[in-house]
Amino acid sequence: MSANESLSFPLSLKRSHNRFVLAPMTNTQSLESGELSEDEAAWLERRAQGGFGIVMTCAARVSAFGQGWPGQLAVDRDEFLPGLTRLAERLSAAGALSIVQIHHGGFRSPTDLIGGVPYSTFSSEPTKSVPYGARQMSEHDIEAVTQDFIEAAVRVKKAGFDGVELHGAHGYLLAQFLDPSVNQLTNRWGGSFQNRTRIFRDVITGIRAACGQSFMIGVRFSPEDNQPDSNGAHLAETLDFMNLMHQCSVDFLHVSLWDWRKSPVSKVHGDGTLLDILCCYKSPTCPLIAAGKIAENADVDAVINAGADMVAIGKMAIANPDWPRRFGDSSFHLKYPPYSESYVKEQSVGESFVTYLRRWEGFFE
Ligand SMILES: Cc1cc2nc3c(=O)[nH]c(=O)nc-3n(C[C@H](O)[C@H](O)[C@H](O)COP(=O)(O)O)c2cc1C
Repeated sequence: MSANESLSFPLSLKRSHNRFVLAPMTNTQSLESGELSEDEAAWLERRAQGGFGIVMTCAARVSAFGQGWPGQLAVDRDEFLPGLTRLAERLSAAGALSIVQIHHGGFRSPTDLIGGVPYSTFSSEPTKSVPYGARQMSEHDIEAVTQDFIEAAVRVKKAGFDGVELHGAHGYLLAQFLDPSVNQLTNRWGGSFQNRTRIFRDVITGIRAACGQSFMIGVRFSPEDNQPDSNGAHLAETLDFMNLMHQCSVDFLHVSLWDWRKSPVSKVHGDGTLLDILCCYKSPTCPLIAAGKIAENADVDAVINAGADMVAIGKMAIANPDWPRRFGDSSFHLKYPPYSESYVKEQSVGESFVTYLRRWEGFFE
């Protein structure tokens, strides 16, 4: 199997022309209001032109109260539709499937951005790990945010995108529901696995009912990221989660590994890598995308050979927008950090994203 081969998604019947996904990457290039800027559109369009079969946007907020950082893309109001529509058109014209990652920060939304104490599945005074404090969500809050996710997806569909990805990874609101160490709800959304996954099921069911079968719904998740343990409970729950998502008929799952070579904390499932184990549990009707330090042609081959259906490229896509188009071409050579700022800017990376990337030691010369 080569990463140049196309992939058809069995439920939506959409087709990616190869196995490369632009990983969702926050680039802080949106306008202060959350409206798409030309810099952000150009950044994504350039990767579509470079051959990424699927182009994902950064995490985009589904409500003002869930904003995670300044310059975040917003999909929470109809006034953003004109910009979103132009982006969807440009990505489609360049041949990519277009996916908006939909996101709510939960307790990680900064007070000064959202104008109040953020909410989550628990309450807390400000601490080192809960910097703004947290107010426990009421049933009304949970039902309202469920609706926000669904309405955001409807807007994304209206704009002409091929689908959405729920950001269920990295400890943001959806992951806060999932994590038993953080979810202290005692109602229908807390306690059992069934209850902690209810918001995923309700959001997916709602989007499917409103957007139909041909609109793609994917879910990004972090295996073992929250409170990894050595007895295998968290990995076992991750596998249950994958199974549940298969039952919900999502179009794809997207595992955020940070490093595709990573081993599980627990050895309950044998000596394989996390990726090996997850690939054993994937469903033939639900392609699995894997992300994390895929930085060389050999990594792409190894991840596909391990059984992943697609590779998501993050940091390497910043300086190598043409990697997918040139994959397999021996005259093409990947560029590695440190990069000069001028070179990165030439790859359709705007000033604001360059500023954000400066926090990565070793990225720039
Ligand atoms: C600048 C930057 C911004 C990111 N923003 C997001 C995001 O908005 N949503 C998300 O799910 N992951 C985000 N990630 C994680 C990436 O999608 C990816 O999983 C991670 O960088 C590992 O892949 P890589 O080693 O190829 O970079 C971000 C990563 C980087 C470097």
